[in-house]
Amino acid sequence: MKEREGWWPVALEAEVGLQPLAQSLLGEPLVLWREPGGAVAALADRCPHRGARLSLGTVVDGTLQCPYHGWRFDAQGRCAAIPALPEFQPAVVHAACRHEVQLAHGLVWVRLAAPAEGNDSALPGIPRLDDLPSRRLIYGPFDVATSAPRAVENFLDTSHFAFVHRGWLGDAGHPEVPAYDVTETLDGRPVIERYKAWQPRATAAAQDGDWVTYRYEVLSPYSALLTKQGDAGGPQDSYTIWACPTTEESCRLWFAQYTTDETTPDEVLRDFQVTIFSQDQPVLESQSPKRLPLSGGEVHSAADRLSAAYRRYLKRCGITFGVC
Ligand code: FES
Ligand SMILES: [Fe+2]
Repeated sequence: MKEREGWWPVALEAEVGLQPLAQSLLGEPLVLWREPGGAVAALADRCPHRGARLSLGTVVDGTLQCPYHGWRFDAQGRCAAIPALPEFQPAVVHAACRHEVQLAHGLVWVRLAAPAEGNDSALPGIPRLDDLPSRRLIYGPFDVATSAPRAVENFLDTSHFAFVHRGWLGDAGHPEVPAYDVTETLDGRPVIERYKAWQPRATAAAQDGDWVTYRYEVLSPYSALLTKQGDAGGPQDSYTIWACPTTEESCRLWFAQYTTDETTPDEVLRDFQVTIFSQDQPVLESQSPKRLPLSGGEVHSAADRLSAAYRRYLKRCGITFGVC
């Protein structure tokens, strides 16, 4: 499965501490912990001895100790000790399966398999990151009972605003979606340069409705970016959705907001985003099938050009996890 060669987010950097943290990526259980020096380690959450969950264990002197017979593993997966045999030097065969880890965008990223030679994979970048406002808030995790592609497509979908976000991001009197163009980045990721919508309450601080200009960009098969700016000159906000495909039919999401709003308190910004997503979640979880159909079975309208482009992009990328 090609997705195993990609980098995907699995946890907030801040939530990985000195105790083991269980996570799941592409259906595979993982355990994460932070070494005393600050680096984050990731192993398959399965002891090579008798298959116990390492995440039920404890971290001892920077090594992860299995809860069953106490074997200890370092961040490279090497077996550092077998307590039943104090004099024994464990060998390569006693090692646990370790995974590569990177820290970026406030999240921990893991790659399950090394890519084929000459085919290295990079984790998704945020275009013009240096131009984004420096105030960043990350919301989540949100555990959602649908596939990661369903969640990302919803983030890219504008024609639900007037229904799901009525009185907030959409107005029941104006459900129409103006014509828009979908273009592509040089590497084939779908983009809408400009999309205009009337929003009754576009941001946490908004007092009145406003015309809001959006820009959308797909960042990777399981992530996207939008930037929005009201005509009335309110704050400029950029949001990313980072989806972890935990299983074929479930995902864990984080949203990052980069905002020029320097005054609204963190909790108010957070409440706004939590409210918006609480409107999305029940509808998202009601969709059937939970995997995103790439080969027919759902009909598009002209208002769904970006969703259709996203599905074609997933197909071109060879994505098979979370789609059908
Ligand atoms: S199962 Fe882990 S030490 Fe035995
Ligand atoms: Fe929504």
